[in-house]
Amino acid sequence: MSKLVVCDHPLIQHKLTFIRDKHTNTKDFRELVDEVATLMAYEITRDLPLEEIEVETPVATATSKVISGRMIGLVPILRAGLGMVEGMLKLIPSAKVGHIGLFRNPDTLDAVEYYINLPTDAKDRMLIVIDPMLATGNTAIKAIDSLKKQSCTQIRLMCLIAAPEGVRAVQEAHPDIEIHIAALDEKLDEHGYIVPGLGDAGDRIFGTK
Ligand code: URA
Repeated sequence: MSKLVVCDHPLIQHKLTFIRDKHTNTKDFRELVDEVATLMAYEITRDLPLEEIEVETPVATATSKVISGRMIGLVPILRAGLGMVEGMLKLIPSAKVGHIGLFRNPDTLDAVEYYINLPTDAKDRMLIVIDPMLATGNTAIKAIDSLKKQSCTQIRLMCLIAAPEGVRAVQEAHPDIEIHIAALDEKLDEHGYIVPGLGDAGDRIFGTK
């Protein structure tokens, strides 16, 4: 069973409250999502392996640590995942960014892929799939399926808010994938929206409704 990590850092939880609030305007919503993405980038990378190197300080030679192992790739799911990319790049500026375009069929809630563009060395990177909302899990599962088809093996999923149904579905389909979220909500409604959630993440980030 894949590991579920709820990032319960007080700063993340505080900001998430204002992200949820329907009175938060587009500008503030976007800024808050960006800030939470930065904080979650800090949490999701806390177990990256380190190696020791020598560095000359102005005083002496120091044995000091740098991140070793795989470089990171970010894979936002279009379009709402884009809202978290810049925030993550603030802490991981050398990450490459791939994109997967998936939309939800509103009747079946199935995910349909319409675009994929990955860094050429994606399979050698640790990939973080980014989508603010983990609702039914169909979209995330399909995105991870596509990455695995391209021989990517080290994949994590990062979302702001998840429904228990979505977490379960991803855990069943991809038991090897770590899932990092800021909150686990109550349920999905009949339209596939997370309750209480924050509404439509894409519309709130881009101000389209
Ligand atoms: N996508 C959203 O943007 N919000 C939800 O609540 C569920 C899926």
